[in-house]
Amino acid sequence: MAKKRKALIAGNFKMYLSSEEVKRLARAISDFVSQKKYEDRDVMIAPPFPYLMAAVDSVNPSFVSVGSQNLYFEKEGAFTGEVSPLMVKDCGATYSIIGHSERRKYFFETEELLRKKITAAISNGLIPVYCVGEKIEDRNNNRHFDVVKRQVEEALREINFRSDNLVIAYEPVWAIGTGVNASPEQAEEMHLFIRNLISGIRDKNISENIRILYGGSVKPDNIDSLMKMENIDGALVGGASLKAEQFTRIIDYRI
Ligand code: PGA
Repeated sequence: MAKKRKALIAGNFKMYLSSEEVKRLARAISDFVSQKKYEDRDVMIAPPFPYLMAAVDSVNPSFVSVGSQNLYFEKEGAFTGEVSPLMVKDCGATYSIIGHSERRKYFFETEELLRKKITAAISNGLIPVYCVGEKIEDRNNNRHFDVVKRQVEEALREINFRSDNLVIAYEPVWAIGTGVNASPEQAEEMHLFIRNLISGIRDKNISENIRILYGGSVKPDNIDSLMKMENIDGALVGGASLKAEQFTRIIDYRI
């Protein structure tokens, strides 16, 4: 069974690994994907900032893309400690994860800031992977759709994105790093909801073609059932992307 949209399997290495480990892992992933020559899926890895160029140099760019885990929206300036979209691009990266729940939680990133980051990424030719997702108390109080609606609309409403220059990742906070993934049905329901929101703020064509990834405890043993869902177009993988054997099995999902 073919998927409607080209899938994207993305690895978020978070703040893990040494330069040698990043190179080794990137090479192993690239070797695997180069052999498979998939036509129906893309692969991306997002190492920590200092290893962006090492990761770019370790992969075959025809098969594996590299992304940053964050960026700042200004082009350049006196912003000590920040990294601009131009710099990310200059390192050879093509994607940037924006608004991960860990950045919202520990670095107080708001939709207003995230809108600027998404806009800056797109205007510099990077593809943002914009993350949204509710906390457990939101779901328990039946507020999960409201929360995700606000995250999607407030960050994206004023942006002229297309389906090929923005990716959305639905990552319920309660599923990240917990070993408890959203069920394929729970994820599918939210993905369809997000797709309809995109239709409302842009148009039907964009909403039908934009890729919506699921993230949160994706593992080799749940990827197949998640990818069987019509509106799940890929995965954003944390922990399991750090092990070549696990991540390549996720990349090699079977539906
Ligand atoms: P996890 O992380 O796969 O370790 O749950 C996902 C993410 O944070 O993107």
